[in-house]
Amino acid sequence: MQESTTVPAAFTEDAAYAAGCAWVDGAYLPIADARIPITDTGFTRSDCTYDVVAVWHGRFFRLDAHLARFERSWQALRLSPPLDRDGMAAVLHECVRRSGLRDAYVEMVVTRGSPPPGVRDPRRFANRFYAFAIPYVWIATPEVQARGLHLAIARDVVRIPPQAVDPRVKNFHWADLTRGLFEAYEREAETVVLLNAAGEVTEGPGFNLFAWCDDVLWTPAAGVLEGITRDTVLALAAEHGLATRVAAFDAALLARADEIFLTSTAGGIMPVSRLDGRPVGDGRPGEITRALSDNYWRAHDEPRWSTPVQY
Ligand SMILES: Cc1ncc(COP(=O)(O)O)c(C=O)c1O
Repeated sequence: MQESTTVPAAFTEDAAYAAGCAWVDGAYLPIADARIPITDTGFTRSDCTYDVVAVWHGRFFRLDAHLARFERSWQALRLSPPLDRDGMAAVLHECVRRSGLRDAYVEMVVTRGSPPPGVRDPRRFANRFYAFAIPYVWIATPEVQARGLHLAIARDVVRIPPQAVDPRVKNFHWADLTRGLFEAYEREAETVVLLNAAGEVTEGPGFNLFAWCDDVLWTPAAGVLEGITRDTVLALAAEHGLATRVAAFDAALLARADEIFLTSTAGGIMPVSRLDGRPVGDGRPGEITRALSDNYWRAHDEPRWSTPVQY
């Protein structure tokens, strides 16, 4: 009886990791079992940085670009992860391999770590590296993308100034973005974009923003994360002869834009069909957005943009 119910080891391992796999303290764990120490200042002080890379059709999309941005982020915060870039890449491959996922959301985090007893000086903490792979995450599902997102421009909250928290360092200081999200829900929108104190458009919870206006593709130059998806869109737009402008602009430009879309590793190029309750263009995802999105997803299968996971 006992024997007949024994599950082969390989099967139990796969099943345990199917919902995702994490790397914590030098060991791989099923995502449900992954824990961080409660005194890690990544948790208690948001003293950390992170990055997220996608796996699509079994291939990492722009892994090198993500690892390079991650490195710029942890260097800016004076963190010293215990692994080098190749070591991190190997952990990311192994997290995806163990999960068996073909489409995955793969996150890496470096935290300052826990204070040794009685120590307040963050230079003396041992920094930690965490990573995990889980099923691909959509800020807007393909169904929502097909009709376009309903976006609000926040009125009650502004983006935290770059002089306080540098948005180019990918961070979890999301109090402004989350406040904005609740404001959007109250106004029956699905997500939000924040302005800075000067009234210029910045970004939203987990995404950059683009507007197609006067036959030019606009995206804010500063005060935003330099998104890898944003960078990919700028490259694809240039290849297709679209005029682009990386510059400051205000909400008035958004209000008269023919098309608006949001960009993120978690969801790709997401059309906006309503802005503050009014239709954008004809109220449906526009042609420029659709063409860029098709090219974006096609790029995920192309060797110049993507590398196979070592399953
Ligand atoms: C605040 C913010 N802006 C923009 C982005 C988009 O960046 P990427 O395209 O690299 O995913 C993110 C992604 O998480 C983000 O958190």
